[in-house]
This record gives sequence, structure tokens and C-alpha cells, in this order.
Amino acid sequence: MTMTDTISDAEYRTGEIRVHGSEGFEGMRKAGRLAAECLDMLIPHVVPGVSTGVLDDLAREFVLDNGGLPACLGYKGYMHTVCISTNHVVCHGIPSDRLLREGDVANIDVTVIVDGWHGDTSRMYGVGQVSPRARRLVDVTYEGLERGLATIKPGSTFGDIGHAIQKYVEAQRCSVVRDFCGHGLGRVFHDAPNVLHFGRAGEGPVLEEGMFFTVEPMVNLGRPQVKVLSDGWTAVTRDKSLSAQCEHSVGVTKDGIEIFTASPTGQFKPAIAGEG
Ligand code: MF3
Ligand code: CO
Ligand code: CO
Repeated sequence: MTMTDTISDAEYRTGEIRVHGSEGFEGMRKAGRLAAECLDMLIPHVVPGVSTGVLDDLAREFVLDNGGLPACLGYKGYMHTVCISTNHVVCHGIPSDRLLREGDVANIDVTVIVDGWHGDTSRMYGVGQVSPRARRLVDVTYEGLERGLATIKPGSTFGDIGHAIQKYVEAQRCSVVRDFCGHGLGRVFHDAPNVLHFGRAGEGPVLEEGMFFTVEPMVNLGRPQVKVLSDGWTAVTRDKSLSAQCEHSVGVTKDGIEIFTASPTGQFKPAIAGEG
């Protein structure tokens, strides 16, 4: 038995938040990579005229063919592999026969399980040529995530993450959705803590090496209020304004973060073509 076996492989809990060792990092690396590869695979398929249901089928087959399980399939009655949230849909859009149209912007969110570990990530896709305001919203959302992630290191707080995102997004005259948040994850899909995308610097639990969680800000061009449609899942902006989201699963390291769901091909932020 090595030192790593006795110390780094331990998994214990500080209050509510789990702290993982090297075995957890290994597991999350594999799960995160498969989730990212799934979103990479979908890029050429997100075109005008494709149905969101077909994209869901492609994602399911890809995950299963590559040694993973779709975590959302059967989760709380959800019967799909991905969520596809277009335009004013904030999150949890349900794949269907609906066809994507030129100019749509869509978030695709996938969670896979590999050897019991969860990789959860989402990105924005432009369908054909997209309006300047939609591209701006997408840019603000990615930059918001980046700014949140940049605060992460042992000793900083969850409030620091939310504060950095909110401060940037609101300075860009966009708004942060309050009704959904990031979450701890690992062997559990949605674990403690709730990772808010707004808040005050220095507040909330203190980060420690070995904590695993998602950061997944939803950003609206208009007001932050959302409502959930009668299907029980689809969340939309109340004012029908455009909404965007992007999500990474990360682990806190000795001096920063490891992004488990980074795209192996550098396409986490896909190029979104502009109109004209
Ligand atoms: N992947 C989503 C998240 O980021 C959860 C989707 S749950 C589902 O937490 F059931 F709607 F798929
Ligand atoms: Co998530
Ligand atoms: Co997700």
C-alpha cells in the first residue's frame, strides 16, 4: 500500500460537501472526457432542418458505444440523453420532432456516467447564421463562466464564484438566472453544494482541494425571471428574451482547478457563424 492509497484515495466529507482523492480525479477525468467528446461529436450535426430528437439519438448511441451510460435517461422520469434548449428556453428543453431552424441558438447539455462517475457539461451551438445579439449573449455567457472558474482555488469561497459571474454579466447589461444552479457531483449526479451563479465575494462554503462540482450559468438578454412549462421540465424566460448557458464539471486542485469536461479538440466554445 502506498501513501497515495492511504491518504489521497480517501473520500471524506467536510460538513455537507464531499472531498475526493486521486481515485475520484481519475474517474472524473474519464467521465468528463466522454461527455465533452459527445458534445464535440454533435457539432457537425447541429444544422437547419435536423430534429432535436435525432440529436438526442446520436448522443445516446455515442455514449453507449463508448462505455458510458446516459445519466439523464430515466432520471426523475426524464426519458432522454440530452437537454436541448433553444432561444428563449433557459434549460431542460426536451428533445422532440421539432426541427432546428436557421438562426436558432441551442444549448445541448449531456451527463454521462463512466465507472460510476458523472461528467456533466453543456455548450452553445449556432444553427446556420446567427444574429449579432445572439452571438453577443453567447460570448457574455462563456466569459461569465470563465470569470467564475478563474476564482476557484483552495481557500476561496462559493460566493466568490457567483459574485464574479454576476458582476461581469450584469456589467454587460445581461441577467443571471436565479432559479437554477450548479451542483456538487461525483458518484452522485446532483450533490451538495448548490453552486449559485450570483452572490457576494467571501460568502458561502470555503473551497478545498478535492471538491468536485459544476459551474453552469444561465444568462438572459432580458430579465432573469423564468417559468417552467406544463411538461414539467422546459424552463423559459418569462419575457421571452434569449437565454444561453454553458457548463463545466471541475475539481479543485492544490492551487486551482482541473476542468474535467474540457473539449479534447478545443471546441468547448464552438465558432458561431454570424449573419451576412
Ligand atoms: N445536466 C443537467 C444539469 O446540468 C441536469 C439535467 S436533468 C434532466 O444539472 F433530467 F433534465 F436531464
Ligand atoms: Co449540471
Ligand atoms: Co448539465
